[in-house]
Amino acid sequence: TRTAAVIPAAGRGVRLGPGAPKALRALGGTPMLIHAVRAMAASRGVSLVVVVAPPDGAAEVRSLLDAHALPERTDFLVVPGGESRQESVRLGLEALPHEYDIVLVHDAARPLVPVDTVDAVIEAVREGAPAVVPALPPADTVKEVEPAAVPGEPEPVVATPERARLRAVQTPQGFDRGTLVRAHETVSGDVTDDASMVERLGLTVVVVPGHEEAFKVTRPLDLVLAEAVLARRRL
Ligand code: CTP
Ligand code: MG
Repeated sequence: TRTAAVIPAAGRGVRLGPGAPKALRALGGTPMLIHAVRAMAASRGVSLVVVVAPPDGAAEVRSLLDAHALPERTDFLVVPGGESRQESVRLGLEALPHEYDIVLVHDAARPLVPVDTVDAVIEAVREGAPAVVPALPPADTVKEVEPAAVPGEPEPVVATPERARLRAVQTPQGFDRGTLVRAHETVSGDVTDDASMVERLGLTVVVVPGHEEAFKVTRPLDLVLAEAVLARRRL
């Protein structure tokens, strides 16, 4: 089997605040995307990384990859992304050479995922799961609400799912390639992760242990945490 990683990196990063596209923002002096690429290439199981660049930024991303030291044994492709994360992932999948039968999808915004997590996801797909997600038990109790029509207005609680049964999902998510392609061809509507598309096909998605350092850089405080984690690694 051969495994490729698709890295959607085409988002603006609106929640992070004004500046360059999120994937190109610096973390420890190096673009977040380069950290994410290295995290995928660090796995011996990954032999191709497909970066889905901002629609007008493919050339810039290509030169970034060329300018940073990356493992020799890994191939890299860059394709322009789309309007939504889902579309960006689909464009990345379309660029995959036929010989790859396992696909990881990894957010550029999760630059610090440890290689052991990547390997655990690949292993579970190799063992036969059509879709695998790394996840952790949430620290907070989670409530379902009736969302307010006006932001900031109080929102009625609809339900409190039993916390012990909940998992907060990370990436890389791993897939049998044919399954993920079929999911992208048949599932439409708002989705926030790839595995949920496979669930909608009626297939079983399995969870493996995630890692605290696989958190997503979404808001400014996440960048503070990411800098601290990186500084600790460099000690
Ligand atoms: N992404 C993408 N194409 C899009 C939107 C998002 O490739 N049209 C990617 C982002 O670059 C990111 C990943 O999907 O690596 C996870 O998305 P998110 O954290 O939401 O990033 P952004 O969409 O950039 O951030 P925001 O939602 O705050 O604008
Ligand atoms: Mg987004």
